[in-house]
Amino acid sequence: MDDLSNNRATSGRTEVISIKGLYKSFGENVVLDDFNMNIYEDENLVLMGKSGSGKSVLIKCVIGLMQPDKGKIEVLGKDITKLGQQEMDELRAEIGFLFQGSALYDSMTVRENLEFPLRRHRNKMNGNRTKDLVMEALENVGLAHTLDLMPAELSGGMQRRVALARALILKPKIIFYDEPTTGLDPITAKEIILLMLDVQKKYNTSSLIITHDVDCARVIANRIILLYEKTNYAEGTFTELSTSPDPKVKAFFK
Ligand SMILES: Nc1ncnc2c1ncn2[C@@H]1O[C@H](COP(=O)(O)OP(=O)(O)O)[C@@H](O)[C@H]1O
Ligand SMILES: [Mg+2]
Repeated sequence: MDDLSNNRATSGRTEVISIKGLYKSFGENVVLDDFNMNIYEDENLVLMGKSGSGKSVLIKCVIGLMQPDKGKIEVLGKDITKLGQQEMDELRAEIGFLFQGSALYDSMTVRENLEFPLRRHRNKMNGNRTKDLVMEALENVGLAHTLDLMPAELSGGMQRRVALARALILKPKIIFYDEPTTGLDPITAKEIILLMLDVQKKYNTSSLIITHDVDCARVIANRIILLYEKTNYAEGTFTELSTSPDPKVKAFFK
């Protein structure tokens, strides 16, 4: 076993993401000030925080879309600030994303949308045929019949499910969800949450889920972290945080 994996498992659980002393500001606007957190294997970690508190900035730092001012970020044992372009690309193939608004390509069919990540990361296909991976991914979200439709022909909930299928098509080790239920009606939101749980169990994926949907957090979170006052203000299970004696913590669960 190499030293890295030993290090990552010292707490008894393997960290898939480790963030230490993260600092990020835009001019005068300090967004993250000494932010720390870990995500462990097979864990669903929910990150909650007010609008504008820095949740998306945090995710962007973790996936290398934004450069932090200070701090250390390790993803799957690799210090991301030290990776070259190609290593970063390889690491990204282990990470799935589901961002707000689903972000399907409007001018491509469902099939073409799903083929897109496969074209970029052929080496991750393990000898499977594109056609089979696309079908499997769509079946996972119950949408095999939409293969040749355009995104505009799908409901909002179906678009989100296709985006989930696309995020999972490379069977990533980690998946990031940024507000996965925002803009959906409560029933469709519930369906998406159950589907997220379902597919993650199947692939043993760890996830970081950003949401201010309390129902979503209740159903999906093994652990919750509150991003408040630029830092990791509180962490614990849903029950621990929602019954916290700190009124600032409790306020998030109203
Ligand atoms: N590219 C950017 N340039 C300047 N300021 C930014 C940028 N991205 C985010 N911010 C600022 O960072 C803060 C946190 O934003 P964000 O992470 O998007 O919040 P949220 O918690 O709602 O996801 C906000 O004050 C926002 O204006
Ligand atoms: Mg955001």
